[in-house]
Amino acid sequence: MSSVKVLGINSSPRKYGNSYKLLRIALRAAEEEGAGVEVLHLYDYEIRPCKGCVSDRATKCKYPCIIDDDMKYLYDKVLSADALIISTPIYWFDVSGQLKNFIDRLTALENMILFDGRSWLEGKVAGVIVCGNDGGAVHVASTLLATLNDMGIHIPPWAMVYYVGKDDVLKVKDKLLDAANLGKIIVKAVKLLKGIKTWYDPSMLTRVESYWVREVLREIETTPKVPKSK
Ligand SMILES: Cc1cc2nc3c(=O)[nH]c(=O)nc-3n(C[C@H](O)[C@H](O)[C@H](O)COP(=O)(O)O)c2cc1C
Repeated sequence: MSSVKVLGINSSPRKYGNSYKLLRIALRAAEEEGAGVEVLHLYDYEIRPCKGCVSDRATKCKYPCIIDDDMKYLYDKVLSADALIISTPIYWFDVSGQLKNFIDRLTALENMILFDGRSWLEGKVAGVIVCGNDGGAVHVASTLLATLNDMGIHIPPWAMVYYVGKDDVLKVKDKLLDAANLGKIIVKAVKLLKGIKTWYDPSMLTRVESYWVREVLREIETTPKVPKSK
């Protein structure tokens, strides 16, 4: 059995569309790099919108989420994967609606930091694939990567692949190459990072507040306020 598990998440309702095609290429490359891969089509599942419990009280949001739907199954899939490759069409300068629900619902895993000292997504690796017809690709891809990163997920180099156009993307050479590289890079990153068990360290706050803040203030006080002119 392969030691690296990559979960491909297709967030287009069109299982024959460009988002899925590039995802398939990325996963094929991940397999060649030695990973075991699995695909989920998000539109096959019932993913209800987040109810926002965390905004009532931070500790109200935890795994398992109170909503009884297919996220129960999807949480398990995410938890058992080392890496995620998420592909989405652009829907009005944003991700597809189903992906937005999915991402919001991942809060239940991320918020475990309050109970466990670590986000349950911490240490995973992710990349994204974004396909549209005319505009918004970099905005959508970078917002998605920023969100995943803020949940504790590693983003390796060249982790955003995007295609904007109306052609069949399987005929667009540079995008095929980008997608294939994404698949390989994701697996390489997982292998590289595997030995490290925890990343975010909540216990540092005491040290930071007690000592480092004072050190920074001392340094600022002793530094001339205006730049030295030559
Ligand atoms: C509701 C909706 C909104 C869309 N909004 C955008 C958009 O803002 N920018 C864009 O480039 N394409 C937009 N498109 C076009 C799709 O992103 C494009 O057709 C994409 O290739 C579909 O991906 P798929 O082939 O993987 O299904 C929109 C399509 C739909 C259905």
